[in-house]
Amino acid sequence: MDHTIDLFSVIDRLKQLVVEIGKLQKESLGRANLAFDVKSTAIDIVTEIDKKSEEKIIAFVKEYYPSHAILAEESGRSEAQSDYLWIIDPLDGTTNYAQGLPIFSISISLEYRGQTILGMVYAPVLDELYYAVRGQGAFLNNRPIHVSNKTQLLDSVLATGFPYDVAEHPANNINYFTRLLPKTRAIRRFGSAAYDLASVACGRFDGYWELNLSPWDAAAGILLVEEAGGSVISFREDRKVSIIAGNNTIVGQVYDEIK
Ligand code: IPD
Ligand code: CA
Ligand code: CA
Repeated sequence: MDHTIDLFSVIDRLKQLVVEIGKLQKESLGRANLAFDVKSTAIDIVTEIDKKSEEKIIAFVKEYYPSHAILAEESGRSEAQSDYLWIIDPLDGTTNYAQGLPIFSISISLEYRGQTILGMVYAPVLDELYYAVRGQGAFLNNRPIHVSNKTQLLDSVLATGFPYDVAEHPANNINYFTRLLPKTRAIRRFGSAAYDLASVACGRFDGYWELNLSPWDAAAGILLVEEAGGSVISFREDRKVSIIAGNNTIVGQVYDEIK
């Protein structure tokens, strides 16, 4: 059976939620006494604002969709058994955030029986609200968006990122970066995977690749790219979520360079 939820009413509620949380995030951006903890490695941090933001998103899901399951970066998976799963990154780009850099985002998606049906990425400082509904297209501030139509890597600007175990793990993306850099117009490392994918969806980046992402970094952004007419492929199985995104042609060319 198909899902029975009205996704556009979910989008309307989510818009209010992310704008409210974005306000809270902006208020503390650049604050000198921001509390933080270290997580998986010495360079993987979480701030008090990541945690506060996640609490608010979880409270939202519990209020409006109490039977749904939740997978959230800072608190893990809820015990609920449900066909619906909310996947939440309350603050994607924590390293930027802790430095007072304005590029970070909130990423929220909803799965039904393992398939993403809705994704939202909000960049508070830029006030850019991206969302996609499966089969209904992708939007930036309510206007339809589309991936770029570049056909050559040498004309393309790509984005990427590096995993928190970059110092410990041999598959740390440095080799792919070295291979691709001379083949492209430029490569950017913005520091928020969700925002990178949103930027591919609206054609500002022609392509993106990254390895060892988690579902909360990528789920909403992947739907944005697909609904914006692009494609997303997985390029290795051993490093969690490892993906290439862009239009079909550029995805193929990036894959040929790093396979
Ligand atoms: C990180 C960002 C970064 C990417 C890392 C992610 P976080 O998420 O998306 O761009 O390179 O792999 O873990 O920790 O800021 O939520
Ligand atoms: Ca993240
Ligand atoms: Ca995060």
